[in-house]
Amino acid sequence: MVTSKKTTKFLREHIAFENTALKEIRDIANSKNKPLVQLETANLLYMIIKSTKPSTILEIGTSIGYSSALIAIAAGESSHIDTIEMLEENMLEAKENYKIAGVEKRVNVFLGDALDIVPKIETKYDLIFMDGPKSHYLTLKEQMISLLNVGGMLVCDNVLFRGLITGDKKHARRKETIISKLTLFLDELCTDNRLYTTILPIGDGVSISILKGDTDE
Ligand SMILES: C[S@@+](CC[C@H](N)C(=O)[O-])C[C@H]1O[C@@H](n2cnc3c(N)ncnc32)[C@H](O)[C@@H]1O
Repeated sequence: MVTSKKTTKFLREHIAFENTALKEIRDIANSKNKPLVQLETANLLYMIIKSTKPSTILEIGTSIGYSSALIAIAAGESSHIDTIEMLEENMLEAKENYKIAGVEKRVNVFLGDALDIVPKIETKYDLIFMDGPKSHYLTLKEQMISLLNVGGMLVCDNVLFRGLITGDKKHARRKETIISKLTLFLDELCTDNRLYTTILPIGDGVSISILKGDTDE
């Protein structure tokens, strides 16, 4: 997280969007030590989806399906979600968790490496949530943009990487490659004329980019 412990505690005590199924999936993920989006980022994602109502959504990094279930619930009955996960055990658990959330008919999991799967995708999306390999955000950036509908949104989690990107926290030398890749990724996102981009210090840092249309300034 990139906010102070007190702020994070306060935010978490005031966030109340999760239904029983999402709470259950979050508890399962925590009990099995599976990665999942932080509560405040999940809340932001929920708000974005509720207000923009995307109908086609792509996620990179399924884990055991918490965020994809959340997306499917927030986006509603007419939405479809594709999500990519490289570990089969996670994919199988995600499919069980979609049943808990009642969204199993609307979520499709691609099993494999996002770097292999993304170039084969032909669908365009209203929203893409990047929550997979942080070291490949930069590699995947152009492909993500090419998969967005005009007005579509690219939301990327962990972009401030525990405060290491802004220098708020000291880092070990072994983190330098990931830090320089994420920094370059943010530099490119923020200076890309095709996009409107903002970076929010929520959770582990979230970037939100919107693909401009021909008449947008
Ligand atoms: C932070 S977790 C995703 C959490 C999930 N979005 C949620 O909040 O419920 C990242 C996931 O990406 C998967 N992953 C990592 N590298 C990947 C790759 N190259 N292709 C596909 N999935 C990958 C990991 O196995 C892990 O399950």
